[in-house]
This record gives sequence, C-alpha cells and structure tokens, in this order.
Amino acid sequence: MREGTVTLVRREDYLAPAYRIRSVELCFDLEPAKTLVSSKLAIERNPQAAPQPLRLHGEGLTLLRVLANGESVSFRHEDGQLVIDHPPADESFTLEIRNSCCPEKNTELSGLYTSGSGFFTQCEAEGFRRITYFLDRPDVMAVYTVTLRADKAKYPVLLSNGNLVEQGELPGGRHFAKWHDPFPKPSYLFALVAADLVAREQKIRTRSGKEHLLQVFVRRGDLDKTEHAMNSLVASVVWDEARFKLPLDLERFMIVAVEDFNMGAMENKGLNIFNTKFVLASPATATDVDFFGVESVVAHEYFHNWTGNRITCRDWFQLSLKEGLTVYRDQEFSMDMSGGASARAVRRIEDVRQLRAAQFPEDAGPMAHPVRPDSYAEINNFYTATVYDKGAEVVRMMATLVGREGFANGMSLYFERHDGQAVTCDDFAQAIADANPGSALSVRLDAFKRWYAQAGTPTVTARGTYDAENRRYTLTLEQFCGPSPGQPFKFPFVIPVAMGLVAQDGSSLPLQLAGEEAPGGTSRVLVLEHPQQQWVFENVDAAPVPSLLRGFSAPVNLDDGLSDAERMVLLAHDSDAFNRWESAQKLALSRLCAAAQGLGPAALDAPLVEALRAVLRHPALDASFKELVLQLPSEGYVAEHLPVVDPQRVHEVREAMRAQLAEQLHADWIEAFERNATNEAYAPTVAQAGKRALVNMALSMLCLQSQRSGDPVWPGRAYQRFKDATNMTERLGALSALVESHAGLAEPALSRFHELFKDDALVLDKWFALQARAPELDGRVFARVKALLKHPDFSLRNPNRARSLLFSLTMFNPAAFHRADAAGYVFWADRVMDIDAMNPQLAARLARVMDRWRKLAEPYRGAAREAIARVAAKPDLSGDVREIVTRALA
Ligand code: ARG
Ligand code: ZN
Repeated sequence: MREGTVTLVRREDYLAPAYRIRSVELCFDLEPAKTLVSSKLAIERNPQAAPQPLRLHGEGLTLLRVLANGESVSFRHEDGQLVIDHPPADESFTLEIRNSCCPEKNTELSGLYTSGSGFFTQCEAEGFRRITYFLDRPDVMAVYTVTLRADKAKYPVLLSNGNLVEQGELPGGRHFAKWHDPFPKPSYLFALVAADLVAREQKIRTRSGKEHLLQVFVRRGDLDKTEHAMNSLVASVVWDEARFKLPLDLERFMIVAVEDFNMGAMENKGLNIFNTKFVLASPATATDVDFFGVESVVAHEYFHNWTGNRITCRDWFQLSLKEGLTVYRDQEFSMDMSGGASARAVRRIEDVRQLRAAQFPEDAGPMAHPVRPDSYAEINNFYTATVYDKGAEVVRMMATLVGREGFANGMSLYFERHDGQAVTCDDFAQAIADANPGSALSVRLDAFKRWYAQAGTPTVTARGTYDAENRRYTLTLEQFCGPSPGQPFKFPFVIPVAMGLVAQDGSSLPLQLAGEEAPGGTSRVLVLEHPQQQWVFENVDAAPVPSLLRGFSAPVNLDDGLSDAERMVLLAHDSDAFNRWESAQKLALSRLCAAAQGLGPAALDAPLVEALRAVLRHPALDASFKELVLQLPSEGYVAEHLPVVDPQRVHEVREAMRAQLAEQLHADWIEAFERNATNEAYAPTVAQAGKRALVNMALSMLCLQSQRSGDPVWPGRAYQRFKDATNMTERLGALSALVESHAGLAEPALSRFHELFKDDALVLDKWFALQARAPELDGRVFARVKALLKHPDFSLRNPNRARSLLFSLTMFNPAAFHRADAAGYVFWADRVMDIDAMNPQLAARLARVMDRWRKLAEPYRGAAREAIARVAAKPDLSGDVREIVTRALA
C-alpha cells in the first residue's frame, strides 16, 4: 500500500506458499522500550512451487541478524518484506533471525504492545509480522515453542500458547517461562502475556474422563468480577461437547483480560485474550446486557478452538469460514442457555435487530461486499457485520435446509475431512451438503453458494390470493437484489422461507400443498430459488393471513403486502414469536416512514396504540418480549427505509410517537413498572433481565411524560431508585430515564455516578456513553460531547473509552450528530484524523459511520461529502482509513 493509492489484494491471486514453516522456536527478552526477539524456523520448500526467493513479512522491526543453516546469508528488504534470494538449496533448512521491536510505542494495539504495566499481543490478522519476520499467512502452520524472559517483580505471570514446560529464575531479578504448543497453528493464533495478574481457576473433567485446567487472568482487584466469565466458559465446554461432540483438546485453557484492545476478544490457541469489557462482570458494575455479552463472547472464542483453530482459513478471504460459523454457534449456545421457546425467540429477535442495524446498511452502502470478499486493501476493514453476522445467517440457512441432525452430521464430516487443515468456505459447504445427500441444500449447492459470492440484501415480495370456491390459497414469491459495487447483476439466491398460514381467528392452519396426500404440519419451509415461484395450498377454509419468513429464516427484506388488519392478526396471534414482534415493527415503521416524508401524521393511530397496549398488558407474554415489541424501530432503521433522509425530521417524528406512547399508555406503564419490579437476589437470567428491561423502559416513559406534564413525581422516584439500586442494570436504567428526559435531577445523578465509579474504567465508559446517547435537545447533547472530550477521564488512546463517547454520538445518536450547521461532521473528521495517527484500525471503524452519506438530504449530504473529502485529502492517512473514505467517495 502506497500513500495516496489503494492497492488491492485479490482472492483470485491466491497461490499456495512456496515455503512452509514446520516449527518455530521463539525467545523474547521483554522490555517496554526494546524487546529482543530471536526466532529459529524450520523451513521446508513446497516441492510443487517453482524455485523462488524466500520472502518473509515484517513490519516496523529492527533486524539484527539472519543465519541460514547456521551461516550468514545475504538478504534485502523489498515492499516491507525480508527477501532472501538464495536460501540453502536443501528441501529443508533452518533460518535464525534476531530482531527487536518497541512494545511501548505500539499504539496500534496490533503485534506486541504494552497496556497498563503488562505486555500483550494481538496477531489476527497480520500482527505477527510486527513481532518478527515470518510467513504471516494462515495457511502456514507451525508448532511453536516459546521462551519468555522478563523482570520477575514487574511481570510475575508469563504466558504463551499450549503447555508450560519449564520455568525458573534468571540473574538480575529476571525469570523465564517456556511454553510448548503441540498443535500446529498459523501465526495469527500466537499469543503471549507478561504482566502482574491473578487468576480464577477451575478444573473440569470432560466426557473422556480427562481433567483440564481453566484459568481467567485479570488484574489484582478484579478477581471478584470473574465468576460469570468462568461459569460461561464451563458452560461452553459442556455445550460444545454435548451439541457437536467437540471436546476441549487442551490440558490448559486460559483467558486473559486486557484494558486496551481493539476488538471484543481473540481466540489464540489455549490463550484467549479478551477486552476487559467481555470478562469482568459483577452485579454492581455490569448490566444484564453486559452479563449476556460476557457469556456470548466467552463462548464465541471458546468455540473458535474447533471452528477456526483446529480447522482454520486458507486465506483471509475465507474469514467467514470461521467467523460466520462461530457466530452461528455462539448464537445457538446463547439460545440453548436462555431456556424456553419464548426466551429463544427473544434472543433471535435481538440477533436479527443487530443484523439489520449493522449488516443491512453495510450491504446497501459503499462497503458492500460478499460474505467471502473478492478483494481488500486492508484486511482489518473486513472484520465486518457481513462476514460475521450475515455469514452466520448463511450457516443458519444451511442448517434450516438440512435439519438439525443433518447439520450435526455435516459438522462431523467437516472435521473428519479437514481437521488440522487451512480450508475454504467451499470446503465447509461441501461437507454439509455431502453429509446430506438428496437434501434441499445438496440438490442446489452451487446456487446456494451465491450467498458467499454475491453482496446485497435480496428483497422477497409475497402476494397471496384466496380462491374460496376451490378452498385454495396461492402464494407467489418473487426475489430481486439490486446492484452492489462491482456486481451490477445478481443471480437468484436460494432462500428458505419458513412459513405458516394463520386464520382470522388466530389459529394455525394445516399446510397441504397441491399434490400432497395430507397436510405437512402448520409450519414449513418453502425454498425460493427462481426469480418467481408459486405454491398452492389446498383445503384452506377461509382467506388466511400468511406468516412468512418465520424466525427470520433468511437475511432478506420481505415485502409481504399485508394490510394493517392482517398485521394486527399476526401481532395478536402468530405462533411464531418473531413474526409477532415483526408485525408490530412493520406497523410502526410504516407510520414512521410516512410521517418522516410528510405523507402522514407524526402520530400513531388508535388501533395501533390499542394493540401495543394489549401487548403491554398481556397476562401471558414475557416481559422481555413486551419490551421488544414496545420499542419503536430506531432512527437508523427508519432511515434505511427512506429514499432520502432528513435525520432531524426522523428524530422529531419518532420522538413525537414516543411521547404519544408515554402519554396514552401512562397508566399501563405505571402498572408495568409496579408489576415487574423484583426484589429477588440478582441473577443475570433471561427472566430477571426481561423484567428489569421492561421496568427500565416503563421508568423512561414515565419520566418522559413528566418532562411534558411538569409533574415531578417520576423523576423523583427515578432519582431515588438510582440512589438505592443494588445492581447496575437498575442504577443505569434509572439514570438513563433522568438523562434521556433531560430532567433537572439528571445533573446531580450524573455527578454522583461519576463519584461512585470514577475508579472503574468500564463503568466510566457507560457514564460517557449515556451522555453522548441522550436524545438531542437544542444542541445540548452535542455541546456536552465536545466538552467531555476534554474531561480528565477521557482519552482517545483507550479504544473502549474512545468508542464510549465518539461511537455513541456518531453511530447511535443521529439527531445530535447530523447537524444542519455541519459541526457534527467537522467534529467527526477531526477525531478520525486524531485517532488515525495512533490507531488506524479504530480510526477506520469511526470513519465508517459516514458510509450512508449519499442517502442524506441537503444540507447534510453536501456537508458530509466535504468532511469525508477533507479526511481523504490528508497526506499521511493510514491505508485503513484511506480504503474506507475512498470507497465512500467512489
Ligand atoms: N477473531 C476475533 C474474533 O472474532 C477477532 C479478531 C479481530 N482482529 C482484528 N484485527 N480485526 O473472535
Ligand atoms: Zn470470532
């Protein structure tokens, strides 16, 4: 990558490596300013490859020595690589390299860096080359033996992958530890930690009877916040063995928490390194959402041990091979952990909301790319919602098409064939299909795989006609997918449409397709694979309401053409909880969109308000489900459904409808608040969390209503609750209710909160985020974010802290960010450039918030373009940010 240009790596250019590294011995002398690395590589030529120079990756390193087979060898540097034109002619030889690097200056947090008083690594995707020279690509797998040497008092804990084989004292107050990892692995799974940490430990026995040691390492003082992470790890080990017969293969499995981390966590073999946000949790400092996040990320990284580590990616274009599959697995785990059908549906709704909030816009914007991309400039920009979340949906569709057991068999075949290998998405799909000959997947595998190759979100249009005379219902489904960058035309997708027919009285109708002897149940999966298809259902007594895409069986937009009355039937009765929720969302969305375009009133009609009231008061529905139904679609989601977006108008309209719900459901909110308040001992269960979420929502609505009526009772109660709260979910909920309604008591509550938690970084993040996410009122929120930037506790260096303020404003608070005076965009451009100078990966994430600028109405659009152009014009911009802004302007 050269300055000012974007050079692309292309999938079609893949070549097997010309050399392989069988084993590596690494030795580290750890010092913050200058760490010495010596590496001894056992290299083999690939007999299939033409004779050629050996080219090793290396970035920002100081090279001290190179020896081949113990002798000096000539080398040169070219394009950021170390080139040895004439390595020994033997089939295999050793290469010894000595180099140094500077961990304390590593603000990119990629490679070896310091955080607090310790050393940590992050090597995925291409961080290992910032530690030493190597074939830093995932299809080169080596056995690692690692020796760490460091000051004993400062760094009492020395960790790397695998098993501890030796440790001891060294002169000068230093000590060492030697680790050996028997599993060959790609360099991106290497890790080391040297720090002053303590561990929670637990032994577990897997089904084979083997005992394993689990450890969660944190800073002194944080041990009491590790119980939930450990419980989640134990549950993950048990689940993977039960559901997929995948046992823990390591004697020791370690998790280490670090405060400065670009992502959520990293699955390094046997030594997962986590953002503290996804390890530390206590009722007093973490919310229910945080507890759930810990459980799901611990599971995700643990599941990578098989899907990612035992079988890894051939190249980075195959990233979804491990990420899509592992997200699917962690979603399934979370559903299984949450219990009954209703709790599962709530999880599914949350996953789909996430997909629609992040992936759908990505798929419709300048960064749209297939689940298996064809090219990239900077691979770190492709750890995206498409690769992760849409990738998981693709795996889910396969599971839907082959059935639960068929999918488990497919997984077994995948491991039989490919354990220990670096493979492609094709290999995965082939294994699932081959284990299920004749299945709905296998008979159209090539067409199905278009999900990997084609970007964009298809729209499925459904229309039904009822023929009373013949008691026949005909359903016509059509699909269409618009162009994406580089893909003007799309072939039809294979779309599993789970569906049912609901009678006007709400009952589920038996589904008998023309030509069938008898009905095949009340819910079934239709496979839409052509541009248009029809299905005829027989013996249908009266005009039904179709319930389509149940459980969100495919990542598509559905235009079902239903009337409001039909949606009301589904909202009240659908046996599929997802579609029940979806009906309410669609009813609200149509009103929001109409009002935002001046085509309807900024108000909800009485029948919809009554339907929502009925849900809120429903005696049998779970609190968590009610809370989801009562939430209006977000401003971002509404914006995606408008041809041209005026963010201020969307905000106004949505706030008006929220205020209306606060007013017209006032008595119901009071009832919900009182009925769901619990005194049970805190546990992060779905049932308890659902109640707390609904209570918090009710309190917000009641404070919102007070803001309008001037009645001080509810802000007073919220303040009291804020003070008395015994857990963070309730405390933060009460604080949010005050801050979001701009109550006078918000200020004293915020100061008190800061005073209470000023020493807890993760809680302070919440304090910043909450203020940046408050609904905008006369520019106050934006002004406050600018002021907070100078707060002594604020820093752009720590990714969590930077995200808490800047991402909260720019991603989650459109009305505060998109200002007619362009001040929000100026602020954005300045921060992207500030952060880029330290941490390009983080800057590139922030840069992406402008992806959808073309949809904006004037004057926003012109001002946004100008701000992006200003970033693009910066001469020393990183390749990471350059790729994002170049695509945005293209
Ligand atoms: N493999 C990690 C996970 O999803 C994410 C690592 C991302 N790293 C990066 N530099 N983008 O669990
Ligand atoms: Zn992952």
